Amino acid sequence: MLNESVSPMKALEGIKILDFTHVQSGPTCTQILGWFGADVLKVERPGVGDATRKQLVDVPGADSLYFTMLNHNKRSIELNSKNEIGKEVLTRLIEECDVLVENFAPGALDRMGFSWERIQEINPRIIMASIKGFGPGKYQDCKVYENVARCAGGSASTTGLLDGPPLVTGAQIGDSGTGLHLCLGIVTALFQREKTGRGQKVTTAMQDAVLNLARVKMRDQQRLASGPLNEYSQFGEGIPFGEATPRAGNDSGGGQPGRILKCKGWEDDPNAYTYFICQAAIWDKVCDVIGEPEWKTKEGYTTPPERLGKLNEIFARIEQWTMTKTKFEVMDICNPFNIPVGPILSMKEIAEDESLYATGTMVRVNHPERGEYLSVGCPIKMSDSPVEVTRSPLLGEHTVEILSEVLGYSGEELDRVVGSGAVGEIKAEAAQ
Ligand SMILES: CC(C)(COP(=O)(O)OP(=O)(O)OC[C@H]1O[C@@H](n2cnc3c(N)ncnc32)[C@H](O)[C@@H]1OP(=O)(O)O)[C@@H](O)C(=O)NCCC(=O)NCCS
Repeated sequence: MLNESVSPMKALEGIKILDFTHVQSGPTCTQILGWFGADVLKVERPGVGDATRKQLVDVPGADSLYFTMLNHNKRSIELNSKNEIGKEVLTRLIEECDVLVENFAPGALDRMGFSWERIQEINPRIIMASIKGFGPGKYQDCKVYENVARCAGGSASTTGLLDGPPLVTGAQIGDSGTGLHLCLGIVTALFQREKTGRGQKVTTAMQDAVLNLARVKMRDQQRLASGPLNEYSQFGEGIPFGEATPRAGNDSGGGQPGRILKCKGWEDDPNAYTYFICQAAIWDKVCDVIGEPEWKTKEGYTTPPERLGKLNEIFARIEQWTMTKTKFEVMDICNPFNIPVGPILSMKEIAEDESLYATGTMVRVNHPERGEYLSVGCPIKMSDSPVEVTRSPLLGEHTVEILSEVLGYSGEELDRVVGSGAVGEIKAEAAQ
């Protein structure tokens, strides 16, 4: 919660971002910078804009939720960066901005005539932040989307049931995960620039970001050399391990036995489930709660190693109990005993949870084309840098404003740029 005496200043106030990003990975990064108070100037192709504006459209004629939920707190300028006057404007933007963020296909910026060397020549203080699918190596020239990264970063091979195919995750770890990593690189580079006065190049490969998030699976890969991974269910089930970290279903990665168990109503509700962790420290409490107090002292049940071969039986018994309770009742009963459980929340339940709106984690935003929509707000809370989520810009909504206020074009010069076609068709009056 914000302090009453909080200053209206935001952490990144005064920082200008040349946002040359599109689709998801780059926009998530610049959206966070916008939430922190940076002035994010989104450069978009005239008449077309970010491809997501027109992807998965739910309200005909309006920007899609795909776009609006990834591009809050930004201004939009239409600019053809391959046209001579467009290049002149882009050069002016590079001069004025502190950070250039891009996630084009490898080599696209060079082909436009804006290599890192050229960008540094124009503005030695600028930080250039890029997302690519892969780092230097045999795949460096590939175009990459979310699922490719989830697979190449080791997430898919370690997600899913042991006897099923690899699975991609529901969380967008390839795109949004990479955006977060890049964002951290940018603010760190801004911090260093305070001391050196120099900008630098920051790059994050999507494969690397996913791998970083799947770090514990690389831990397990190395542990395999010392024998089977006994916290994986397959160990207790007597299924041999292969050469690579296996898929572990819903086992918990921290070494404590854990499963997803059915709760009351599971027959009709696909999300009537709870996660249930059976830590050693609360074994006695679990036995009491599920009505098996004798397991506390029963031979073969008292220590975690003894229980490893019986986890299927134990969790089946716990599930008999959880199936008599709703997932929320399970939480209410188990929490006082410090038994770690977590209800499987649907997106509908999350969207209806008013407490998330109270903290700004969920927000309601007004949009001139779509009316009110829900969005996920800023998940990072800072006591002295308040976040106000503002709607995404319409395509080119701020073209003239940016040309004049940020870049100082006026009079004939402004007319020359606007008349050249490099900045698209100027709309009469930006929607409010
Ligand atoms: C996401 C990705 C696969 C999309 O590919 P794409 O739709 O073909 O888009 P590209 O980045 O190749 O850009 C297409 C062209 O538009 C051009 N373009 C983009 N903005 C422009 C503008 N404002 N004015 C003129 N041309 C523009 C680019 O220069 C490029 O031209 P080129 O092919 O002649 O070099 C690709 O950009 C990529 O691999 N990005 C890096 C990884 C990434 O972020 N992936 C996740 C996205 S969620």
